[in-house]
Amino acid sequence: KHQLILDVDTGIDDAFAILYALKSQHIHVEGICTGFGNTDVAQATDNTLRLIKLANPGYDVPVAPGASGPLERKWGGPVVHVHGDNGIGNAELPPSSQSPLDESAADFIIRKANEQPGEMILVTLGSLTNLALALEKDPSIGGKFKNVVMMGGTVFSHGNVTPVAEANFHVDPEAAALVFKSGLPLTMVGLDVTLQAKLRMQQLDWLDRNARQDCREVVEFLRASLAYYFNFYTQVNDFIDACPLHDPLALLVAVDPSLVKIQTLKAEIECSGSLTSGMVVTDRRPHPLRGSDVNVCLEVNAERAIGKLVTGFI
Ligand code: BDR
Ligand code: CA
Repeated sequence: KHQLILDVDTGIDDAFAILYALKSQHIHVEGICTGFGNTDVAQATDNTLRLIKLANPGYDVPVAPGASGPLERKWGGPVVHVHGDNGIGNAELPPSSQSPLDESAADFIIRKANEQPGEMILVTLGSLTNLALALEKDPSIGGKFKNVVMMGGTVFSHGNVTPVAEANFHVDPEAAALVFKSGLPLTMVGLDVTLQAKLRMQQLDWLDRNARQDCREVVEFLRASLAYYFNFYTQVNDFIDACPLHDPLALLVAVDPSLVKIQTLKAEIECSGSLTSGMVVTDRRPHPLRGSDVNVCLEVNAERAIGKLVTGFI
């Protein structure tokens, strides 16, 4: 089984990714770190605990609460227009009796990296703040992850919070910059590919009719939660009865890189531009001089990816 640590800002699409991972026979979720982004860290933590209860994976999944804001900047607050008042599209879930760990997300990341060096894949679905804090505290973890797969950024596509920046990097550019310079093996699943991975309403209807017994409630939740997301993407983004599954695609790539075409590019993060803060700057000159090697996903077999995500619940 793939041993994954998820770092999330639970979020509608984070929720989909978490549920997919917890329901997969091929994935063991070693723990979930939470942070701010789509919602605040307390809400992200609470949502995550409720999702674990809903998925009932049959093993313990510790939840480590992380950063409540960016390394150096002031946080703008929850993204209610995209993810609803509670982060999960105002869908309701029963509370969980599980408590979060006393250990911080950064400490959890450090501990896991040291316990089983070279084994863990860290999948970041929110800002890179927790990972940056872990690296500041223990830079040696740079060599101890099998891979770090990040949902974030854009190279040839456009941004989503600004013309050139994607939300997860834009919300804490200093953290992203630190991670890019860390020497960690990095795979970037950005808007270049996630905007191609569109879930259509009909596919969700089909899933609803075909969900396996132990996923019925999960799928019911997904429908309720995704309704908000469909609405946002239809109104604001020229998507017709469809929405992109950013975070679920990153999770899939972590366990099945054959879904994407990857190019290793030298990349760094812009932190100070007045128009370009949080932008991924790649040095594509014939003899690049700047940046660190990042495996950037540039093409995706979207049909196969969405097919895998949907069939994960049937
Ligand atoms: C990313 O930002 C968040 O809104 C989503 O959960 C996803 O991780 C997309 O830019
Ligand atoms: Ca997210």
